Amino acid sequence: MKIKNPKLWHKMPGGIIEGENVLYSRKYLKDVENLYKSKEISNEGKNTLMYEVYSYSEGDETQYGNLFWGLTILHPVYIEKECNMTKGHFHENRNCVEYYFGLEGEGLLLLMDEMGQMSAEKVLPGSLHYIAGNFAHRLVNIGEIPLKIGACWPTTAGHDYRAVEEMPFPYRIYKNNGKIELVER
Ligand code: 6PG
Ligand code: NI
Repeated sequence: MKIKNPKLWHKMPGGIIEGENVLYSRKYLKDVENLYKSKEISNEGKNTLMYEVYSYSEGDETQYGNLFWGLTILHPVYIEKECNMTKGHFHENRNCVEYYFGLEGEGLLLLMDEMGQMSAEKVLPGSLHYIAGNFAHRLVNIGEIPLKIGACWPTTAGHDYRAVEEMPFPYRIYKNNGKIELVER
């Protein structure tokens, strides 16, 4: 019997999931500019790469019980002191939970229930975060290097971005002279 080489799900420091069955997407500032308070984003600034998402699965994605394995990389970008963040979403299927785990960098995980109540958890290398199915989740990079997190969630979870557009996270996150500030909107 031959011992197989393992699948490399990520490679430091590139953070690349190698192999087949990998979905990859990237967001530029022009894709997410509405999230930020600043209305003064230059055309050049709009081409800034904000975050990248890799997700990997095997088998039938529509099969209940199947899982995605993911990697999100948020770059250290500040828009007039406001920290880089993901769009944030509820899972379309509110029964689907998710785990996030910190790999590199420093961040916050914002969690918001369906009444709009928010809490925040510090994300750092080795941290583990359980995201209940009925909580919207958003990652924020509060550091000076790329924030990398691993994630695992059901392939049938889906994304509900609309609910977050209609009821945004109640706090904006700023870094001011090295200090993190949560500002109510
Ligand atoms: C998911 C995960 C994760 C997330 C990315 C980008 O459910 O797919 O939570 O892969 O999608 O971190 O965040 P947004 O989807 O909110 O842009
Ligand atoms: Ni999710």
